[in-house]
Amino acid sequence: NEGALWGGRFAGGPSEALAALSKSTHFDWRLAPYDIAGSRAHARVLHAAGLLTADQLGDMLAALDRLEEDVRSGAYAPSASDEDVHGSLERGLIERAGPELGGRLRAGRSRNDQVATLGRMFLRDHARIVARGVLDTIDALLAQAEAHPYAPMPGRTHLQHAQPVLLSHHLLAHAWAFARDLQRLADWDARAAVSPYGSGALAGSSLGLDPNAVAAELGFDSAVWNSIDGTASRDVYAEFAWVAAMIGVDLSRISEEVIFWATKEAGFVALHDSFSTGSSIMPQKKNPDVAELARGKSGRLIGDLTGLLATLKAMPLAYNRDLQEDKEPVFDAADTLELLLPAVSGMIATLTFRTERMAELAPQGFALATDVAEWLVRQGVPFREAHELSGEAVQAAEARGVELWDLSDEEYARISPHLTPAVREVLSTEGSLASRSGQGGTAPSAVAAQIEALAAALEPL
Ligand code: ARG
Repeated sequence: NEGALWGGRFAGGPSEALAALSKSTHFDWRLAPYDIAGSRAHARVLHAAGLLTADQLGDMLAALDRLEEDVRSGAYAPSASDEDVHGSLERGLIERAGPELGGRLRAGRSRNDQVATLGRMFLRDHARIVARGVLDTIDALLAQAEAHPYAPMPGRTHLQHAQPVLLSHHLLAHAWAFARDLQRLADWDARAAVSPYGSGALAGSSLGLDPNAVAAELGFDSAVWNSIDGTASRDVYAEFAWVAAMIGVDLSRISEEVIFWATKEAGFVALHDSFSTGSSIMPQKKNPDVAELARGKSGRLIGDLTGLLATLKAMPLAYNRDLQEDKEPVFDAADTLELLLPAVSGMIATLTFRTERMAELAPQGFALATDVAEWLVRQGVPFREAHELSGEAVQAAEARGVELWDLSDEEYARISPHLTPAVREVLSTEGSLASRSGQGGTAPSAVAAQIEALAAALEPL
């Protein structure tokens, strides 16, 4: 078991099957830069505790610099017999610093506190990249909303025409969900900004090392208050996976709408050529593959979360090797979003909306019936009765195969004397939209205020 981090009490090396099972370098090697940063911080606290002389610290840091450079260039890579990133980098350090000095760095730390810390560092960096992508998606939605301040569309519930809304209002509904995702990433970071380094295997260190000095050097706000919690908890990873899955679900929901909008039947949008794909057999096809992959990959993100939770369930304290399974799901969640977000934001930014088609459909399907009822309420009619009368108008229009505005004044009068010709003021999409002017409503004035509120909400993020 030459070069391994353990072996003294064993007569022989691990079986081939165990070595193969145990190995994680094929996925944890991407933690190498964080591992080396942790080693630098650890060397400094060893020095501060009197366990490395100033010369030894200087030589150690120089060896770590050379190792980092070799890792970056690819000159140093894990060997077939390296078990994990931590062991491999220690071998690389010993090759550069010599066994006497290199062998001193393991004092007071364990792979258990190392890996818990490095994972948080990795996720904090990637949360920032993901946040950038989410912000780009919000910006794409905002730009489309601002480019179409007055364009109406059919607002739907149960996928049926419900009431006309502004396209901008609808797009901003997605933007608010993504804004909350951004807030979630920021809130999460406060919990992720606590360093487990110094927890050792589970019980802390006897060597007088300062965990807060390591934490500060590695960009954390503080060190954990409980070494068992520090090494054994992964709720911070699971929370990252949950936020990632939520972002995936939010991407999937707008994607599903884009897929529908791009159908011949809806005809609401044209996808940009650079964000759509063709068919190998049907020459005419222009497919919304970006949106479909987003919908598909949201399932994968949910799988990353549920897989990780299943690993954590019923695991006793403190560290157990099951925890080696914590990394691939969160790495995959970050990778998936980093791939997906630029594609979805690009797709949204380059959509062409067929606004005449959307405007034509917006009031159809008796989508102004609620406006008639609310107009009656403003004339003093109780809502139950108003609902009934408006429903009768719908029935009359449906029987004749026309829309509400096609009914004559006489037809309205026959339904109720309350339905005077003045009702026509709400029998237009513009009138309907303009009337919903309270906070959160779809009137152009309310949407303009909404855009300012969204910008203010994004300000601190
Ligand atoms: N590769 C291990 C992991 O990812 C590092 C910690 C190993 N610790 C141990 N006691 N075997 O969890």
